[in-house]
Amino acid sequence: MEATIGIIRGDGIGPEIVTEAVKVLNKIQVVFGHSFSFKELLLGGASIDATGEPLTEATIKEAKTCEAVLMGSIGGDPNTSPWYQLPANLRPEAGLLKIRKELNLFANLRPAVLYDSLKAACPLKEELISGGFDMMIMRELTGGLYFGERSLEEKDGVRIAKDSLTYTDVEIRRIAIRAFEIARKRRGKVTSVDKANVLDSSRLWRQVVNEVAKDYEDVELEHMLVDNCAMQLVKNPQQFDVILTENMFGDILSDEASMVTGSIGMLASASLNDTAFGLYEPSGGSAPDIAGKGVANPIATILSAAMLLKYSLGLDEEAACIEEAVGKVLELNQRTLDIAGEDSVIIGTEEMGNLICAEIKKGGHGN
Ligand code: NAD
Ligand code: IPM
Ligand code: MN
Repeated sequence: MEATIGIIRGDGIGPEIVTEAVKVLNKIQVVFGHSFSFKELLLGGASIDATGEPLTEATIKEAKTCEAVLMGSIGGDPNTSPWYQLPANLRPEAGLLKIRKELNLFANLRPAVLYDSLKAACPLKEELISGGFDMMIMRELTGGLYFGERSLEEKDGVRIAKDSLTYTDVEIRRIAIRAFEIARKRRGKVTSVDKANVLDSSRLWRQVVNEVAKDYEDVELEHMLVDNCAMQLVKNPQQFDVILTENMFGDILSDEASMVTGSIGMLASASLNDTAFGLYEPSGGSAPDIAGKGVANPIATILSAAMLLKYSLGLDEEAACIEEAVGKVLELNQRTLDIAGEDSVIIGTEEMGNLICAEIKKGGHGN
């Protein structure tokens, strides 16, 4: 297969982890006989430095010519980076939100899976995770607080900040349909998470999810309040199959879920619209505290590349091959610092990428 894949290296650890994921995609090309061409695109802090804007029209235009885009995280340390002296709409994160909106990437899939060999890296007691867990967080990505009306002003000596949270039934329905479709191919359960005891937007969320559920009688639906969900994720993560939730709740719950898989460095993500196109990135950030040290965990980015192959290119076997390679390498007990156990051999970003590449073999899958 021939495909053009956009590459956004990003900021902080972004370039380090993307390099390893591109290496894995290159290995896949060779082993499976595909022809990928990579197009370098700018977003976030790197784009500000080069062009003065976190996202240019050129990047949007180029991204649209690609089958999919792979991205490292963007942003810097808000306390020290000069990017945060800029007005809010010119900061790195504004570029990320804009590309999500411009490309209509409303469905964000974040799979939180506990690998058997990483049970020791999970901070939960052994009896809580004995059966492992495998959940898919479906986060609405182009609505809610992130895109509501906002203002910051001073009136009569009082500073007032406002962020508003709006959802339409159309926005809720399309992400709910995605969640039910995905649950149908998994264990058949959707947990819709909201704050319907307080927020009108959540009451509409619940109504619309109930309406959609009528077309999916084979899928079990439960509603859960977000504060309870945050607690349940660390009390009994095994209960979840698909978690369906709005933008801000999904942002917070997915970081929490990542930690019970061992590390934020394990959590991949796919941001999808109604076409085969997708933007794939690790769920975590640019980790300014470890940037440039060669110690970041590249697995979330590598697993995001696997999602790219699966969801945008339809290469399921190749995606499974990467997932399996990651599983095998984790069994070797050679780990980056974030997932290391007491007896692990600590390795760096590049070594982890090399080990995973070495496990990518045709026919290896399923053996
Ligand atoms: P962060 O996720 O960057 O870091 C939180 C902690 O997790 C840090 O200790 C970091 O070292 C660690 N960590 C993150 N990824 C890791 C990896 N792959 N391997 C090992 N350890 C890892 O969150 P933050 O510090 O709150 O944010 C830093 C910057 O990242 C901010 O500018 C923020 O806006 C941005 N950010 C970007 C994205 C994105 O591009 N998708 C996501 C989240 C945060
Ligand atoms: C994420 C990030 C982004 C978000 C930030 C960087 C805008 O935290 O992708 O989870 O909040 O969506
Ligand atoms: Mn986040």
